[in-house]
Amino acid sequence: MTDTKLDGIRACVFDAYGTLFDVHSAAAACRDDLGDKADSLSAMWRQKQLEYTWLRSLMGAHVDFWQITGDALNYAMATVKLENAALREKLMALYLALKAYPEVPDVLRSLKGAGMRTAILSNGSPMMLNAAVESAGIGGSLDQVLSVEEVGVFKVSPKTYQLAVDKLGLQASEICFMSSNAWDAAGAAHFGFQVLWINRFNQPREYLPGEPKGVLSSLSPLPGLVSA
Ligand code: 2OP
Repeated sequence: MTDTKLDGIRACVFDAYGTLFDVHSAAAACRDDLGDKADSLSAMWRQKQLEYTWLRSLMGAHVDFWQITGDALNYAMATVKLENAALREKLMALYLALKAYPEVPDVLRSLKGAGMRTAILSNGSPMMLNAAVESAGIGGSLDQVLSVEEVGVFKVSPKTYQLAVDKLGLQASEICFMSSNAWDAAGAAHFGFQVLWINRFNQPREYLPGEPKGVLSSLSPLPGLVSA
């Protein structure tokens, strides 16, 4: 937990998957179909999804996050010996309507009410992000929804964080970036954002360059920590 106040902040920029949206809510909605495989499937799905973003970025073989998410689900279903095309389609459709964490709508409304600019910066494709934002009903509290598809490489490439600087027309130090993914928090801090790590899963720190300015267990305290 932190009570670090961040000054000189002109925009709050949020990672999407894991930070605003619960990536495990898709498998959780299929618990009847998945039984005791739900948690292991979801964990492997997420891990493989991220691994493929890093590997494809290193290879210079970019495809969008929807393709990545489908490929990762194929791998995860194979690990739990699930062959069910209809269930695969159901899980993919649910990924377009992931649950927002409970504090998200109020935090975004509170930031907008205080005159703060807000944006998403995510690996998600525009189609995926627009669907998730629509499904969660938070579009009215977001000034911009930025997808790495605009730069053709995944996080933690500096090009992805530069996209927020360019689209918002701000200095990196004027942007407060929130991610629950510690590796994303490190990449953003290393780039130059003021970063709060939303450590939702009480994970240990990463040993990477780029230190967050503070650590929160949810987004709830954020409006009281940032000021222009
Ligand atoms: C996102 O870019 C890191 O998957 C996470 O939304």
